Formats: sequence, C-alpha cells, structure tokens
Amino acid sequence: MSNQHVSMQGMWSSRAVFVMAAVGSAVGLGNIWKFPYITGEYGGGAFVAVYLACIALIGIPIMMAEILLGRRGRASPIITMRTLAREEGASPAWSVVGYSGVVAGFLILSFYSVIAGWALAYVFQTASGGLNQVSAEGAASLFGDLVGSPGQLMVWHSVFMLMTVVVVARGVRYGIERAVTILMPLLFVMLVIMVAYAAVEGDFARGFDFLFNTDFARVFQLCTGPAEDLQCSFSGEPLLVAMGHAFFTLSLGMGAIMAYGAYVPEHASITGATITIALADTVVALLAGLAIFPIVFASGLEPSAGPGLIFQTLPIAFGNMPGGQWFGTVFFLLLVFAAWSSSISIAEPAVAWLVESRRWRRSVAAVMVGGLAWFIGIGSVLSFNYWSGEEYQLFGKTLFDLKDFLASNIMLPLGGLLIALFVAFGAGRRMALEELAISRQRLFDAWWFVIRYVSPLGIAIVFLNSIGVF
Ligand code: TRP
Repeated sequence: MSNQHVSMQGMWSSRAVFVMAAVGSAVGLGNIWKFPYITGEYGGGAFVAVYLACIALIGIPIMMAEILLGRRGRASPIITMRTLAREEGASPAWSVVGYSGVVAGFLILSFYSVIAGWALAYVFQTASGGLNQVSAEGAASLFGDLVGSPGQLMVWHSVFMLMTVVVVARGVRYGIERAVTILMPLLFVMLVIMVAYAAVEGDFARGFDFLFNTDFARVFQLCTGPAEDLQCSFSGEPLLVAMGHAFFTLSLGMGAIMAYGAYVPEHASITGATITIALADTVVALLAGLAIFPIVFASGLEPSAGPGLIFQTLPIAFGNMPGGQWFGTVFFLLLVFAAWSSSISIAEPAVAWLVESRRWRRSVAAVMVGGLAWFIGIGSVLSFNYWSGEEYQLFGKTLFDLKDFLASNIMLPLGGLLIALFVAFGAGRRMALEELAISRQRLFDAWWFVIRYVSPLGIAIVFLNSIGVF
C-alpha cells in the first residue's frame, strides 16, 4: 500500500475499534426514531423495500468508498479530498464534498440534538413512574406537553449538545468506544425483548404486514390517511426520502465515515468492516420497526403520526408491561447512548478540519462547532411549538422538516454522488485497487462496476424522478 499520509489525530487501536465506532455512528436515532416514523408516513412495505435496495446498491458501495478515501488521505474530509485530488491529478474543486459535508453536519446536528433531548426527557419521565399504566391518549398528551414547551426542549437540547461537545473535545477515540462495545449489544438485546413484547401484546401480524408487504403502487405515490380511506397522489418524494434515509442511517454523504476512516489501521479489510456496519444498522432498524408497528396498530394509533411516533407508542408498552418502569428507563438511556455515539461523528469532520487547518485546540474547535449547532438548533426547538403554524412553514414544512429534508434528502445523496464519481472517475482504478486490497478480483470488479455506474445512476434517477423528469 502506498500510503504516506499520517493522521494528526492519532489512530484507532485496531480494526475492531473502528468497526465499533462506525456502528456507534450508524446506529442511532435514525434507526429507532426516524426509520419507523418515515416508514409510517410513506406507507410501509414498499418504502422499506426501496430503502433496503438503496442500502445495498448505493449505501454499501459508497461506504467502502468513503472509508478508502479517509484512510488514504488520513485527514478531515475537506483536506483529504483536496490532497487526494491533487495526487491523482484531479481538480482541487473536489474538496467541495468536504465543505458541503460540514454544512450538512451543522444542519443535521442542529435537529439531532433536539430529538436526542426528547429521549433524555423520557429517561426521567419513565424513571419517575410517569408512564405507569399510561393509555394511548395519555402517552400522546405527555408527548404533546413536552414538545409544546420550548423551555423544556431547550434544556434537554443544551444538555445533549454539551454531552456531545465533551466527548468530541477529548477526541472520539478516547471517549466512547469502550462504552459503545457494551451498550450497543445491550440495546440490541433490549430491542429483541421489545419485539417479543410486541409479538405477544401488539397486533404483530398487522405490524409485520405493514413493514414487509410490498405494495409497489405506493412507491411512486404519496398516500395519506387511514387504510380504509387512503388518499394517494403521484409523487417522487417517497423514493427520495427512502434514498436519503439510506444515507442518513449509514452516516454517509457528509464525510463522517470518511473522517473515521482517517484513523483506520493500514491493513484492515474495508469490505468486511463495511458489511458488518451495514448489517448491524439494518437489523437494528428492522427490529425497531417490528417493536413499534404492532403497538401502533393494537393501540389504534396512526402509523403516519410523524416525528412523535415512537414517543407515543413505546410508552404504552413500557407503561403496561411488568417491570416496564425499569425496562423503559434503561431503553431510553440506551437510546440516548446510541444518539450520543452518532452525534459525535456528525461533529467530527468540522472539528477535525478546524484543528488541522486553523491549528485550534480540539476543545476549542468542539465548543465552537457545538455552539453553532446549538444556536441553529433553537430553530428546531421552536418548530414544534411557536413556529409550528402554517405561517412559519415553507412548502408545507416547518424549519425542522426543512433542515432534515435539505440535509438528508438533498445534500447527503449529492455528497455521496460526488464521492462515487471521485473514486470512479476523478481518481481512478489504481487508487481503489491499492486501498481496498481485495484479494478476489471478481469481488473488486463487481464493486468497481457498482460504484462507477449503478450507484451514481441510481442517485441521479431518484433525483430526476423527484423533480418530475420521469
Ligand atoms: N447514522 C446516525 C443515525 O442513524 C446519524 C448520523 C451520524 C449521521 N453521523 C451522520 C447522519 C452523518 C448523516 C451523516 O442516527
């Protein structure tokens, strides 16, 4: 391997540590909060099928590309892209990938922290017995009280952002990798128990059917309303959202995985790591869906309830299962951890760049990045109360929705597209061959074909479809 660059920020101690950190980044609110709620909004099975196809054909190949770029450049995404472009004789303008990633990171962190704040609030809500014997209406009104209170939301948003800053300031390698090694498997076990509970107490058949029954007519339509009275109209939006979520859930398209890749040891297999990360991420999302939809249907709730979906359904389970007070507390605590190990990776590209280019201390950079994201996050807080009305919306979306839409569905896929194009056409085959060091030629050729043609065309087709070209 011809890698002469050395990371300024140190290295993961082994490949396993990198995989844990990347799983920590990938598994988060995206899997447990966002996946169920958007699946509910976009009608279930068909949406899930498109999402899974995007993971396989776009997400996995691009994750390999991000890691290989990161490891070769051994720097923050902005500097990595600039250096590699120069080395490979391509235009330095490729560093736009890094800059747009930093911007997307601010947008994402500014709402991620607010939602993680909800999870924090629910740790205390559950621990204090506030959910005991709660009914569906009671759970909905508790949630309404929380998001209706800007003061409470600001407190939790601030606490979570502070937690993020503390870990990022110390350096992601020293903070949470050990915690992640224990807590992620625990979260997994708790989700399995939740699925078992949903199977016994919920309407499991309907929940399962909703998630996996693929009614493809719906993929190209936007359907709302209850099943008996479904209102559908043509829209490219479900496809775009499914693809955007594949990026979001795998932490792709903004350089987070590239930044983590910069600390990967020389001889670690990128392919194996990628498969592990994507598999863990997908399994957690599907488990979350299986835990939530049976309860949604058994309690007569609407799958399309929106961002509050899991906060309105899981409390019903916790409030009514034996030992639910304890179990629910641990569950929300683990959710906070999952969000924590994700949020630090959202901040990492910007922080690493400030350290490298401005020679700032990590702690200073972390405070500045966290501070700015916190400030932008005030807009997300207000989107659920003062600014929730139509007069504050644009294209029928609140500020929170707009930030999510712009970052997840536009910026991440565009970033991913550019990453694929850079690896395939900007840099070329030799660099990829050296970095991936795949011993089986056929496997490399398959990946090369996908990253050259399938992923970029897939992204382009979804984009064109969403603006109505076909
Ligand atoms: N993947 C994380 C989740 O599912 C969120 C996340 C972490 C992320 N880093 C990212 C999303 C980078 C987009 C880009 O919760």
